[in-house]
Amino acid sequence: MNLKRDSCVTFHWSTAITRISYVSRENIMRAKIDDGYPDVSSIEMPQPSKEINTQLGRRSVREFNGEPISLINLSTLLACYQHNPSSGRRVVPSAGALYPLRIYVHVKSVDSLSQGVYMYDPYSHELLKILEGFESDLKEVFFHAPMVETCSVILYITLRLDKVTLKYGDRGYRYGLMEAGHLAQSISLVAKEINVGTVVCGGFNDLKLGGYLNLDPTKEVVIYSMFLGLEDN
Ligand SMILES: Cc1cc2nc3c(=O)[nH]c(=O)nc-3n(C[C@H](O)[C@H](O)[C@H](O)COP(=O)(O)O)c2cc1C
Repeated sequence: MNLKRDSCVTFHWSTAITRISYVSRENIMRAKIDDGYPDVSSIEMPQPSKEINTQLGRRSVREFNGEPISLINLSTLLACYQHNPSSGRRVVPSAGALYPLRIYVHVKSVDSLSQGVYMYDPYSHELLKILEGFESDLKEVFFHAPMVETCSVILYITLRLDKVTLKYGDRGYRYGLMEAGHLAQSISLVAKEINVGTVVCGGFNDLKLGGYLNLDPTKEVVIYSMFLGLEDN
């Protein structure tokens, strides 16, 4: 099979945004759940054995108090992508066990860590500092989202296109998006357990963020981000 490996780069960059436009909820037509299945019968499900909605209870948190996150809590969240040497696997699934994602941790306020961008090494469970500081022009990168001001950490989840396309060609791009979803959801649920607030964020200026992280746009792209902090009660 001849694997194509270039349309995912074209697709990614042709869907990049440099500004954000809002559509009010009222203008979005909500499809009825039974659209297309008008005459089929329905079966009522028993009560779930756990109150999933209330017990897992994840909700986006956008109002943070700016207080530092403890290093152990950051470590616990990053462990969602930590490599387990005995199994060779991680908490999140990965197509072909390639693990093509990277997590960059932008520290604004974490106990005993200086501000800057760190790359997470899932094999050694270490942070490698690659950039200093937490600049205010980040606000523009996130289209002036207020969380930039009050969060303690931003996570940038990138996809290594070079790695994932080697096995799957352009289809690997899809897998990368799915895997980022698994990772972000795992982090969100663990964060809830340890009282760290999170909101995932797909609204960022792709070019500016990739440029800020010095990524090669044909090899590695930011596909997701997450704000972390302590909820402002
Ligand atoms: C792919 C994706 C992108 C999102 N991007 C943003 C974003 O750019 N800014 C933001 O404030 N929330 C963003 N969210 C969070 C949603 O707005 C939020 O999940 C939704 O309103 C449901 O609320 P809940 O998370 O509290 O259940 C995003 C969620 C997803 C799944």
